[in-house]
Amino acid sequence: MILSLEHIYKDYVQDKLVVPVLKDINLSVEEGEYVAIMGPSGSGKTTLMNIIGCLDHPTSGEYILDGKSVLGLKDNALSDVRLNSIGFVFQTFQLMPRETALENVSLPLSYAGVKKSEKKERAMKALERVGLKERALFKPTQLSGGQKQRVAIARAMINNPKILLADEPTGALDQKSGEQIMKLFRKLNEEGVTIIMITHDPGIAKNAKKIYYIIDGVISEDEEQARTTAEALEKESAIDDDFLIDEEPSEESSDEKEVTKDEKS
Ligand SMILES: Nc1ncnc2c1ncn2[C@@H]1O[C@H](COP(=O)(O)OP(=O)(O)OP(=O)(O)O)[C@@H](O)[C@H]1O
Ligand SMILES: [Mg+2]
Repeated sequence: MILSLEHIYKDYVQDKLVVPVLKDINLSVEEGEYVAIMGPSGSGKTTLMNIIGCLDHPTSGEYILDGKSVLGLKDNALSDVRLNSIGFVFQTFQLMPRETALENVSLPLSYAGVKKSEKKERAMKALERVGLKERALFKPTQLSGGQKQRVAIARAMINNPKILLADEPTGALDQKSGEQIMKLFRKLNEEGVTIIMITHDPGIAKNAKKIYYIIDGVISEDEEQARTTAEALEKESAIDDDFLIDEEPSEESSDEKEVTKDEKS
């Protein structure tokens, strides 16, 4: 098993209101798997991805990555994990606009302290791997969307991470470019890379070997089950809220308190 999430919860606190976003997520991924995570907008996909990618901490639960618990790790150790074990691909590519494709791809090597000559050689090989060797000196504005995403994939793979995390990797692309990206993912997966991909698009999700559904913070391989559990939890929390309202002191009793206070002074 390359990673496992156990009883992961994530709450956000906004204006003193606790908003539960991930609710008891249990997910194990084997090495070499290709997993898609689907779900409606706001269901918690990116929140989950940020936790898997060690970009954010869960509120509670356990996360084992490559045999080690990562939740106790300090920020430095976490950035090492991100640099060496995980490649990231985003919907909007996130390339440095002023840098060439080659420079963008070699950026993670700079963080890893690799020598200049070796950096260039490895970045060139990575671009070759995604079929963009002849675009090495182009800047992002001179590349098509699909080409930009291929540069981003080359950058994600430059340190040979075991895991590739992709959040809507084809979301900003036309169908043909999207299919090219999916072809590239299949190739990487055949080479042994574990892929976890978020997508809205059932046609894209089909490329994965396994699909999970996340609905309102609940995850399952069975879409119906995720929905039923999410609805049951929603009802439960509505009952809790009613209970809270009943528990609040009525205006009358708070007036009484005021009076007693005045009488005392
Ligand atoms: N930093 C934050 N503070 C407060 N609430 C947040 C924060 N980040 C996300 N949320 C809330 O968590 C919920 C899930 O957000 P998330 O970004 O994970 O959804 P998503 O499934 O990725 O949606 P989309 O498909 O639109 O990208 C949303 O209701 C959102 O408002
Ligand atoms: Mg998202």
